[in-house]
Amino acid sequence: MSDPHDDPTLSKLEILEQKNAEALLGGGVARIEAQHKKGKLTARERLDLLMDPGSFEEIGKFVMHRSKDFGLDKEYYLGDGVVTGYGTINGRLVYVFSQDFTVLGGSLSETHAEKIVKIMDLAMKNGAPVIGLNDSGGARIQEGVVSLGGYADIFYKNTLASGVVPQLSAIMGPCAGGAVYSPAITDFILMVEDTSYMFVTGPNVVKTVTHETVTSEELGGASTHSTKSGVTHFTAPNEVAIIQQLKQLLSYMPQNCEDTAPVYPYDAQGDELRPELDSIIPDNPNQPYDIREVIHGIIDQDSFMEVHQNFAENIVVGFARLGGRSIGIVGNQPAVLAGVLDINASTKAARFVRFCDSFNIPLLVLEDVPGFLPGTDQEWRGIITNGAKLLYAFCEATVPRITVITRKAYGGAYDVMNSKHIGADMNYAWPTAEIAVMGAKGAAEIIFKREIAEAADPEAKLQEKVDDYQRKFATPYRAAHRGFVDEVIVPSQTRQKLIRAFKMLENKVDQLPRKKHGNIPL
Ligand code: HXC
Repeated sequence: MSDPHDDPTLSKLEILEQKNAEALLGGGVARIEAQHKKGKLTARERLDLLMDPGSFEEIGKFVMHRSKDFGLDKEYYLGDGVVTGYGTINGRLVYVFSQDFTVLGGSLSETHAEKIVKIMDLAMKNGAPVIGLNDSGGARIQEGVVSLGGYADIFYKNTLASGVVPQLSAIMGPCAGGAVYSPAITDFILMVEDTSYMFVTGPNVVKTVTHETVTSEELGGASTHSTKSGVTHFTAPNEVAIIQQLKQLLSYMPQNCEDTAPVYPYDAQGDELRPELDSIIPDNPNQPYDIREVIHGIIDQDSFMEVHQNFAENIVVGFARLGGRSIGIVGNQPAVLAGVLDINASTKAARFVRFCDSFNIPLLVLEDVPGFLPGTDQEWRGIITNGAKLLYAFCEATVPRITVITRKAYGGAYDVMNSKHIGADMNYAWPTAEIAVMGAKGAAEIIFKREIAEAADPEAKLQEKVDDYQRKFATPYRAAHRGFVDEVIVPSQTRQKLIRAFKMLENKVDQLPRKKHGNIPL
């Protein structure tokens, strides 16, 4: 790298111009070409797509590293491998950092970390989201512990910022080692298919330590993390689509924890009654249906953005708009494992509920749940602790909370899924709701065990008892008599009821008891 200060023929303005031009080139033309050959955009090209045109203001463009070891005393790049700054997305302020893989593989140095921390501090003080575009080989190996310290500084800020401003992480390339833990603390992770990876240690280390042979994609590609681990919330086939998702995601969120999400224009135009919902629940209680059809039957048209679409599919979570206002939806999915709650479904929904509560996004729960998944696998892996996460998350949420029981609400899952007892504001049930300790057959087999065994025709007796239990308990009315359900509603009127109820709740104020912080069962 040349230093324009050395050239006495240049004016001061020319020196600045030259430095600016040099900074824009990052690691140089050859490395930019190599980046493009891999199907990847550069850090600055990504920012051009993300930010409103002309709105980006860079901070720390001329920052350089301070290292001298392993040849770094001869290798300096203006900006030191990360472009940081602020600007607007759809007119709203955001702070952003974009790692530049063309500079020492986007590796994180002490100064690179300082630049990220600086914009995070500004974001917290000014109450605006932070977006990270990650493309990094991890700790800058030549810097040793100084780089590790830089990572820790970022993790610390991520944690302090959690619940203060939304933090979004797009993974645009390899993210190894320390590079994965900052995204993990942020609210949402988005990964580009085929060109992005996240792992604590790469395939070579895995081979040495566990003797497993695995590709980068299998170990930590977008498909792995969207289906097996649940580490990523969103994936898209290319970087342009990921940036589009980032913008959409932001549209549901407020700027910070004191703010509320933007309200979109809404004109009822007679769309509040949705007749298709009246026939959506099959006559046979064991027949599945897709809860997404119920969601689409309730929300503003095309407003659903599903989170964790391919992970723990027995529960569906995502953002939508109802009458122009942002809501978070949690729905049991009868089409997958009958909508049972298991470990992954519980943790997936718990994290989503906590995000919504952190950022004043009201919650809608659509309930059709046969209970928690039984069995040694679930028990040994801690369904008790993990199921309790969802329970805890709902109990603690102070945002407006509404539940609609579409069909089954059995056992502990009835309590957990935003029941009246744990603080829900409005609880509706459809006439098809079955609210009981368990399904009629299981119940009859237990409470009439002896009577059935002693009957001349045990099968007929069982059926008689099942029918009896079904008639008495597999309805919403026992719960409605008690006031645990506020109203049994006609399904086609659900949208109208919810728009009115959320409007009624829009100034809700609720507080938790004074404490340092709770102790969620992690
Ligand atoms: C310094 C690095 C680097 C690093 C890559 N480079 N990673 N420089 N520190 N961590 C440099 C390369 O030397 C190369 O420089 C350029 O970036 C591009 O790297 P390539 O290997 O040519 O690219 P590619 O083939 O695409 O492979 C990318 C990669 C690989 C998968 C990221 O580079 C890699 O495995 N890097 C090391 C990953 C790692 O182990 N990081 C440390 C993790 S430990 P030139 O000059 O040729 O362009 C860690 C601890 C933190 O992060 C823990 C905190 C909790």
